[in-house]
Amino acid sequence: MDPTLYDALGGREAIGAAVDGLYGRLLTDPETGPVFEGIDMPRLRNHMISFLAAALGSDLVYAGRDMGDAHAGLHITDRMFDRTAAHLEAVLAQLSVPEALVERVLITIAPLRAAIVHGNALV
Ligand code: HEM
Repeated sequence: MDPTLYDALGGREAIGAAVDGLYGRLLTDPETGPVFEGIDMPRLRNHMISFLAAALGSDLVYAGRDMGDAHAGLHITDRMFDRTAAHLEAVLAQLSVPEALVERVLITIAPLRAAIVHGNALV
């Protein structure tokens, strides 16, 4: 059987490093940073790790809200989604994940856009 994308990336530890790198970028990006104000980041980190792990084929269980509910009211735009995907791509490349695997991760998260983007930003 083919290894899951989760295993190919390096498992829990690798996903944790990727998520830390991603939030490091999202929080300091002036276009996405404000969305995270007041958010319980350790809790979000854990949910993001288990969500990604599950999405990438591990048997870890994701116990957070569905993507529509979790992002409702945050006014996330297509542009913010694009920047988030670009940050994730850059972080994975920095962690020396092969390009073909990075592509597969991006293809896996792309369909989430419809649930996460909620129209125009407030500002
Ligand atoms: C790329 C695809 C994305 C995935 C896979 C993802 C995943 C998640 C997950 C798993 C949660 C936790 C839900 C929970 O705790 O019940 C969450 C919450 C959150 N996400 Fe995302 N997300 C994505 C895109 C974005 C974008 C583009 C933004 C904004 C720039 C964003 C901002 C947030 C914020 C602020 C929360 C916390 C909401 C709260 O606790 O009230 N996410 N996301």
